[in-house]
Amino acid sequence: MLPLVKVHLPERAQLMPALEHVLYSGMIGEGEAVYAFERRFAEQFDLPNVLAMSSGTAALHVALLECCVQPGDEVITTSMTAEPTNTTILQVGAVPVFADVDPETGNLDPASVEAAITDRTRAILVVHYAGYPVPLADIRAIADRKGVTLIEDCAHALGARYRNAAIGTVGEAAIFSFQAIKHMTTVDGGMLVLRNASHMRSARKLRWFGLEKGVPRTEVDISRAGYKYNMNNVTATVGLAQLDVIGPAIARHIDNGRFFDAELAGIPGLSVVPIENGSEPSYWLYTLLADDSDAVERCMAGIGVMASKLHRPNHFHSVFAPYRRDLPGLETFYRRLVHLPCGWWVSDDDRERIVTALRKG
Ligand SMILES: Cc1ncc(COP(=O)(O)O)c(C=O)c1O
Repeated sequence: MLPLVKVHLPERAQLMPALEHVLYSGMIGEGEAVYAFERRFAEQFDLPNVLAMSSGTAALHVALLECCVQPGDEVITTSMTAEPTNTTILQVGAVPVFADVDPETGNLDPASVEAAITDRTRAILVVHYAGYPVPLADIRAIADRKGVTLIEDCAHALGARYRNAAIGTVGEAAIFSFQAIKHMTTVDGGMLVLRNASHMRSARKLRWFGLEKGVPRTEVDISRAGYKYNMNNVTATVGLAQLDVIGPAIARHIDNGRFFDAELAGIPGLSVVPIENGSEPSYWLYTLLADDSDAVERCMAGIGVMASKLHRPNHFHSVFAPYRRDLPGLETFYRRLVHLPCGWWVSDDDRERIVTALRKG
C-alpha cells in the first residue's frame, strides 16, 4: 500500500556517524547541538526567535503561557485539527471556543472567528490545516482590531509561505512539530517561534523548570514554576542532519500537491481546496473534497493507495463536550474530506495512477 504518511529520515550513512558521535560524547542533554539546530532552523526557514522543545505540544503550551493566557480566558480555536491544539488550551485552564471553518478549506473562517470574540477572549489560535495557510491577513486584522493575541499552530505547515513570508511569522507566537510523521522529524520535538525577542528569556526558563541556565546553582532562583520541555542533543543531531536534506523532500510535497490541484480540478463529484490568496501551501497531506468520500477511499484502496480522514474533529471528544457548538461549515467539510498521500514518497507513477483512478470514478 502507498501510505498516507511516512517517516522521513536522512540516509543511514549520513545520520549514523553523527548520532554515534553525540551518543558517546558525554553530552546528550540540552547543549551545543540544540543551539546549533535552533540557529540553522531559524536561518533555513526564515524565522525570528526560536526555541527547540521536546514536542510541538510543549511548544504550544509555552506559547499560550507566553501570550498570557490565564485560567478562565477564552481562546478562539478550530476543532478541525489534531487534539494537542486544544488539549493545551485546557492544560492552561482556558476555555476553547470553537469557531467554524470554511467548508471548502477546513481552515478557520474569519467571520466566525470575529463573531466568537467576547471580552474574555485572550487569543486566537489558528491551525494551517494539512499545510494550507489560513486567511492570515484577515485574522491578523481581527486580532489587532479586538486587541487579542494571534498564535499559529504550524505543525502541518513547515515550508509553507504567506505573502512572501515564512509561515509562522504573522502571529505573536507560532509552533512547529517534529513528531514522527510530520514533514520533518527529530523522532519527537517541536519549535517555538516568538515574534518578540523580549519573551525569549522567560520562555527559556519555562522550558527548564523555571531555572535560568548559566546562573550558578547556589544562586539560581525559580520565581515561576516551569516544565521539563527542552530538546536534547540527540534529537537535535537528528534535526541537524534533517536540515541538510529536508528542502527537496518538502519541495516534493509541494510539487505533488500542485499536480493534484491541476489534475483533479473539475472532476465531477470532487473539489480541490481553493488556495488562500498569496499563500503557498506545503501540502503535508493532500486535502480532497468528495460528494462521496467513502467511495474515494474504496477507489484508492482498489489501486493500493491509503486515503482517509486523518483527524477526528476535536469537539466530538467527550472532554470537549462542554464547548460544543453548531459548526455547519465543519460538518460539511468533514463529511466531504478525504486526505490523499502527496509527500516525497509519492512518485510520478503513483500520482498518475491516483489521478487516472479518480477520473474513472
Ligand atoms: C495540528 C497539530 N498541532 C500540534 C501537534 C503537536 O505536536 P507534537 O506531536 O510534536 O507534540 C500536532 C501533532 O501531533 C498537530 O498535528
